[in-house]
Amino acid sequence: MAATEKQPVTGLGPLNGVVTWVDARFPLIKLWEDQWGKYIAPKNFNFWYYFGSLAAFILVLQIVTGIFLTMNYKPDATQAFASVEYIMREVPLGWLIRYLHSTGASAFFIVVYLHMFRSLLYGSHQKPRELLWVFGVLIYLSLMGEAFFGYLLPWGQMSFWGAQVIVNLFSTVPFIGPDLSEWIRGDYVVSDATLNRFFAFHVIALPLVLVGLVAAHLTALHEVGSNNPDGIEIKKQPKDPRTGLPLDGIYSHPYYTVKDIFGVVVFLFVFAVIAFFAPEVGGYFLEANNFIPADPLKTPLHIAPVWYFTPYYSILRAVPPMFTSQFPGVAVMGAATMILFVLPWLDRSPVKSIRYKGPIYKFALWVFVLTFLLLGYLGTEPTNVWGQTGAWLGNVERATVAARIGTALYFAFFLLMPWYTRIDKCLPEPQRVTWK
Ligand code: HEM
Repeated sequence: MAATEKQPVTGLGPLNGVVTWVDARFPLIKLWEDQWGKYIAPKNFNFWYYFGSLAAFILVLQIVTGIFLTMNYKPDATQAFASVEYIMREVPLGWLIRYLHSTGASAFFIVVYLHMFRSLLYGSHQKPRELLWVFGVLIYLSLMGEAFFGYLLPWGQMSFWGAQVIVNLFSTVPFIGPDLSEWIRGDYVVSDATLNRFFAFHVIALPLVLVGLVAAHLTALHEVGSNNPDGIEIKKQPKDPRTGLPLDGIYSHPYYTVKDIFGVVVFLFVFAVIAFFAPEVGGYFLEANNFIPADPLKTPLHIAPVWYFTPYYSILRAVPPMFTSQFPGVAVMGAATMILFVLPWLDRSPVKSIRYKGPIYKFALWVFVLTFLLLGYLGTEPTNVWGQTGAWLGNVERATVAARIGTALYFAFFLLMPWYTRIDKCLPEPQRVTWK
């Protein structure tokens, strides 16, 4: 269609002329309408539907604060720690930018975990949203990489020793392990070369991957349409003759624009309280050891990753070594993340939402959530936190026993899913969404 055949844009006041001019040369209005303005969403979104837009908000926040941090940060093993102190003490508002970024990292994981939990509640990973879920898992794994690389940059004790422990895990891979971990580090130990490459991954490679994956995630979402708390497909409903929309559909704009802005405001309130008053959150968001410069000659007594990695760290520690090799633990930990990819094919439930799923799924989900929290907690503590069992049980650390049971339950949730979702007694789904 020739550019001049488009209708002039109205309703934007003094911007009408400019937007009409741009729209004649670029599909501005079409993009807006396809992706948001005329995107038809179910009208019964609830609390759990705040977290997608919040995750997008935090991604932008991390990129913007990250750009400003990079202006004063030095990716050099002799200067990195001091440059972070310089940002905290000398750069105008540097402390704020840094705390927004460090708090943002943990907030990102909280929001993404809640966002993923919503899928388990409402079956958002089930057909036809499998690919949308797979893009989500790729985002989650990239986010873990992004956080891991970023954590080395302040070059504190925990940065250094955390990276040392994690990179050493790769050396357990049979045959190629030692070469592999040396290749990742670029040296025999974590060093300046490691810092430089982690910096490159953290500030450019993975942010690009994340932005690309989020674009793919949203494109896939808009192709299949959103699920909802009742798990029924509004696209299959008859159209309302007055509006031409599915009976339970509404336009995202203005309805969900307003809802999402409300979510961002509430989030910012809580976020600001943490960033201003308790940015360390008792050592969970920023660990005390990381305020000590990295010292390759002094290993901290207790090395633990940041809280968002600890469920997997627990799984790693739970698996006993085989012939002194830690590889089984590494493999099981890897499997614990990879199994997320196949979730849509493990879930054989005929209904999507927890509202209509049977008692077995409800029970399994509860156990899974409690297990994940328990593993997360155990991963933050030393393995002797609960002492040892009696001699009759082999004097094993109680926390290790708990982590082993937790690991078994974690995998049971997924591996038994094809069986229990098929035999579960589900309720019939309604024709229309439940909405007051
Ligand atoms: C940077 C991270 C992410 C961003 C910005 C993001 C963004 C979004 C947005 C804006 C939506 C639509 C609004 C909503 O449903 O809340 C959405 C839906 C969805 N996301 Fe994500 N997401 C992210 C990570 C993930 C992850 C890690 C997963 C799963 C592993 C995931 C799985 C899904 C699914 C299944 C839906 C459809 C939900 C439904 O319609 O019920 N997302 N995402």
